[in-house]
Amino acid sequence: MPSSPIMISPAHRAELLHAARQIAQHAYSPYSGFRVGAALLLEGGDIVSAANVENASYGLSICAERAAVFAAIAQHGPKIRISAVAVSNLNDASSSPCGACRQVLSEFMPPEGVILFPFDGTLQSRTLAELFPLGFDLAHAE
Ligand code: THU
Repeated sequence: MPSSPIMISPAHRAELLHAARQIAQHAYSPYSGFRVGAALLLEGGDIVSAANVENASYGLSICAERAAVFAAIAQHGPKIRISAVAVSNLNDASSSPCGACRQVLSEFMPPEGVILFPFDGTLQSRTLAELFPLGFDLAHAE
């Protein structure tokens, strides 16, 4: 039975979307030209955002979503809990978080956490459980 999404206030939602859009301008993406921003709403109300950073050794590039998680831990410590994520890009493209970012988010976000992202020209809202069911959990692997 899927649990209902965490309720995000309209003000937080607007702030989160704005932060994701703004930080996308900081993207370092000379290789793909794809500029992504991600903003996290932490329990407690803080917002942390980051953009994607690429490298000439392509595999070293990091997505905006993971950069935002790592920035949030750097700023707020390892106990962060993420209530919601907004993803934006300056290319007007569909961009839901990639599988690697979903896995990383799942360690800091409950299944009913909300992910906002542009897809097929509209803003989509999904829970983490909808985007990433049955993710890897070491506790289940032992
Ligand atoms: N990218 C993100 O930042 N987030 C995603 O969810 C998917 C892809 C970045 C990685 C790379 O810098 C560029 O977009 C093209 O893949």
